[in-house]
Amino acid sequence: MTQILPHGGELVNRVATGEQREALLNEAKGLGSITINTWTISDLDLIAVGAFSPLTGFLNEADYRSVVENMRLANGTVWSIPITLAVEEAKAAELKVGERTALVGEDGVIYAVIDVESIYAVDQKVEAVHIFKTDDLEHPGVQKLLSRPATYVGGSITVLNRPKPEKFEEYYFDPSETRKLFQDKGWKTVVGFQTRNPVHRAHEYIQKTAMEIVDALFLNPLVGETKSDDVPANVRMKSYLALLENYYPADRVHLGVFPAAMRYAGPREAIFHALVRKNYGCSHFIVGRDHAGVGDYYGTYEAQDLLKTIPTEDLGITPLYFEHSFFCQKCGNMATTKTCPHDKSEHLTLSGTKVRALLRDGICPPPEFSRPEVAKILIEGMAEQPVT
Ligand code: ADX
Repeated sequence: MTQILPHGGELVNRVATGEQREALLNEAKGLGSITINTWTISDLDLIAVGAFSPLTGFLNEADYRSVVENMRLANGTVWSIPITLAVEEAKAAELKVGERTALVGEDGVIYAVIDVESIYAVDQKVEAVHIFKTDDLEHPGVQKLLSRPATYVGGSITVLNRPKPEKFEEYYFDPSETRKLFQDKGWKTVVGFQTRNPVHRAHEYIQKTAMEIVDALFLNPLVGETKSDDVPANVRMKSYLALLENYYPADRVHLGVFPAAMRYAGPREAIFHALVRKNYGCSHFIVGRDHAGVGDYYGTYEAQDLLKTIPTEDLGITPLYFEHSFFCQKCGNMATTKTCPHDKSEHLTLSGTKVRALLRDGICPPPEFSRPEVAKILIEGMAEQPVT
């Protein structure tokens, strides 16, 4: 069996090297520029290394409108989250379609150039309702979207400098690297797991259930921007390492980070997360309860329901759906309502808020909820950098 193809058929590579890079860097110094923040730098880099294949740049107007309204690029390829470059109106007025502009970080580094294909004004409330199913400013994704300027610049990018990870550099792998690694290990089927949380017993249960039917697990925690009350990525990384060391077979798991920002777009983001993991070389992708959700904005299985509307051949990767998992005292193990006949009162479920409160008070949640090695790291992490 050959490895799964990237979305759109080919892995995009927009990272300039050698003489091309030197020439573009020289050229970029004489060009106008757009200042970009860390969120945009992360999108830029993920486009360049092919994690967002088939995108070769920030969405132009036709693709943007098609993605927002139909969850597909203008050519019909499934794509659910708009990856866009927002600029102030005054800056947009300086730009011209057909010209090249430098993309410069707040640190002064020239990260890339963009060949401007379109400059367009958008209605972000319409975008919010399509992508997040709400324009409520309490929603963290909507808040982020509406805080950006409403003029977008589309066009292919070429990356000249890549962002340097501050920590855990050895867990950063480009899709070309994970693809090679999976092949070298002889893994024909790999299940991808997205998470923005510590891995608790419910996560472990669905991962291991999936591992029973595939060759390996790609634990791919998102470490880009998250909301302030999520557990910080560096604390989570320590907890993943402790968990893997104590409870997972080393030769069947690969830990690598997903350096993207979290959108909290629930169903739409589940599709995006699946497509990206396909680009990293995963054949399967786990979607459990309220995937990429926040608050009460999405139904427990809404992400699964939306994914099921996408024809298998358009998605490529195979989603593995899991019901809400919990520890059942009567069964004496992890279960879901598919496998457990007992009353709800026998099920141990703790809300994120409750768990955070316990950890902040230095109390380990029960071992049926979280492995003690994980809880210990979370307690230490919270003591070091209090989470609001
Ligand atoms: S997410 O925002 O990255 O989706 P989280 O890290 O909590 O949040 O979830 C990672 C994956 O595990 C998602 O697919 C989610 O649906 C699934 N998941 C989380 N908790 C449970 C649970 N108790 N039962 C089943 N699936 C779950």
